[in-house]
Amino acid sequence: MWTLSATLLLLLVQLAPSVLALPKQPSRPRTTSSDPISVSLLRKRYGPANGTSVDDWGVWAKNQRDILRSKYSQDSNSRRSSGENLLTNQNADSSFYGTIAIGTPAVSYNVVMDTGSSDLWVADSSCTNNCNGIDAFRPSQSSSFTNLTTSFAIKYGSGSAEGFLGRDVVQLAGFSVSNQVFALCDTISNGLLGSPVSGLMGLAWQSIASSGAEPFWQTLASSGAWDEPVMAFQITRFSNISQARALEPGGSFTMGTLNSSLYTGDVDYVNLPSDAITYWTLPLKSLTVQGNSISLGSGKNSYSAIDTGTTLIGGPQDAITAIYSNIPDSSPATGDFEGYYTYPCNTNVNVTISFGGRSWSISSADFMLTRVSADRCIGGFFVLGTTTPAWIIGDTFLKNVYSVFRYNPPSVGFADLSKTALAMNVPGGEVPSATIGSVVAVATGSGTNSNSAPVQGVSLIPRSSILAIGLSLLFLAL
Ligand SMILES: *[C@@H]1O[C@H](CO)[C@@H](O)[C@H](O)[C@H]1NC(C)=O
Ligand SMILES: *[C@@H]1O[C@H](CO)[C@@H](O)[C@H](O)[C@H]1NC(C)=O
Ligand SMILES: *[C@@H]1O[C@H](CO)[C@@H](O)[C@H](O)[C@H]1NC(C)=O
Ligand SMILES: *[C@@H]1O[C@H](CO)[C@@H](O)[C@H](O)[C@H]1NC(C)=O
Ligand SMILES: *[C@@H]1O[C@H](CO)[C@@H](O)[C@H](O)[C@H]1NC(C)=O
Repeated sequence: MWTLSATLLLLLVQLAPSVLALPKQPSRPRTTSSDPISVSLLRKRYGPANGTSVDDWGVWAKNQRDILRSKYSQDSNSRRSSGENLLTNQNADSSFYGTIAIGTPAVSYNVVMDTGSSDLWVADSSCTNNCNGIDAFRPSQSSSFTNLTTSFAIKYGSGSAEGFLGRDVVQLAGFSVSNQVFALCDTISNGLLGSPVSGLMGLAWQSIASSGAEPFWQTLASSGAWDEPVMAFQITRFSNISQARALEPGGSFTMGTLNSSLYTGDVDYVNLPSDAITYWTLPLKSLTVQGNSISLGSGKNSYSAIDTGTTLIGGPQDAITAIYSNIPDSSPATGDFEGYYTYPCNTNVNVTISFGGRSWSISSADFMLTRVSADRCIGGFFVLGTTTPAWIIGDTFLKNVYSVFRYNPPSVGFADLSKTALAMNVPGGEVPSATIGSVVAVATGSGTNSNSAPVQGVSLIPRSSILAIGLSLLFLAL
């Protein structure tokens, strides 16, 4: 995960106070008690009433057969499921977060949904540095929490977090993993978290997890919990809207299914190289700027991470230089902006990229990161230095497509956004509240998973009951 650097954000604050006003007070995570739903059991007669005709017995017998068949034919298919998590767009496309719930009773937390890393962590209640106003996890208040006492540290492009590992029930999008290992962080670098975000959900592969733990998504995918072995993102664009609020609707994240109302045409999949099932790695095969092709590395030098947790697009020095050399009157920025470039704001920059399949366009609105003077703008492509992988493809690109992360075969696919999806890029939409999180949280707490068979430590919460219970709680709260 790489977010805008603190300095850049500072500059943005000066330039566009309305866009980057301080986020609203965080919504308190809601704790929900687990009132069991009691069902009174009525003793039943084993057969129809006396004097019943043979035909009626036949009907009764058939009904019994059907009831028992549906009760006991819980094959693996009927245990599969899918779910949706609504996202919030924070600070004009700087980051996109969703909501998870942790512990017993379940408490909801906002976390950045990050396909560019593989650990789940949240701020811990003992955190004092850079945790001001952030809702922290309180281990002592979860009866299902286990302290693993192992220390944990992770570094991102935009900062680092340290703490220790624990294990607890984690829920997201109607799925629950009862023994999820995650980190509780008390040392968090400045600017990594911004209220109302409490942590980060890593959605890449276990092979790069700093904790070594199997990521939440991978536990679900590998145990066959999903209807389809996919998770997908649709994220919104507000960077080019001056009246955008600090928090705007962010789109949606689904597990176990694609939402066909959010894209058109086919999803164009490209397989991950078999030696790079780490990040969601795709080779960057071609890139054009104003119609001109840029020469790119091959083999590992072309590898890119498809990363929802990164705001911009980073790449090797020579390629970034070549990109801006196709934009007349562009020049390298200096000082804190080293690695970035400025260019005339009135240039409509047209970049297309391809990973071996279809070619995808990045809108000029996404290429333009921000205005730094009356007529100079900073571009959304920056120099990454020497990294593995060589490129980080972040939200500057992902806002332009529907993106699909497929477990098996390991691949990433893209599709064109539908009109429905594009219609969300306008201000005035409703920002999902933490209520979404508590809705998810309630389902496990109220014991609805008694009628869903556990799958290797994973239990599925039927979506309909989540919605029903969530709604009733909402009314109770009102
Ligand atoms: C049904 O028939 C059985 C056997 O003839 C009898 O013992 C029983 O009392 C009857 N039950 C009713 C509800 O009529
Ligand atoms: C968990 O263990 C770590 C390392 O031993 C310790 O620092 C921390 O205070 C413990 N936390 C809780 C909530 O027990
Ligand atoms: C923002 O950019 C998108 C994509 O280029 C465009 O469709 C939309 O009209 C722009 N909105 C504004 C307010 O400029
Ligand atoms: C798919 O997206 C549409 C539009 O946002 C939404 O109304 C619908 O609830 C979503 N469906 C699922 C299954 O998530
Ligand atoms: C952007 O460039 C591509 C490749 O040259 C071209 O096919 C496409 O039409 C261009 N799009 C715009 C909006 O100019």
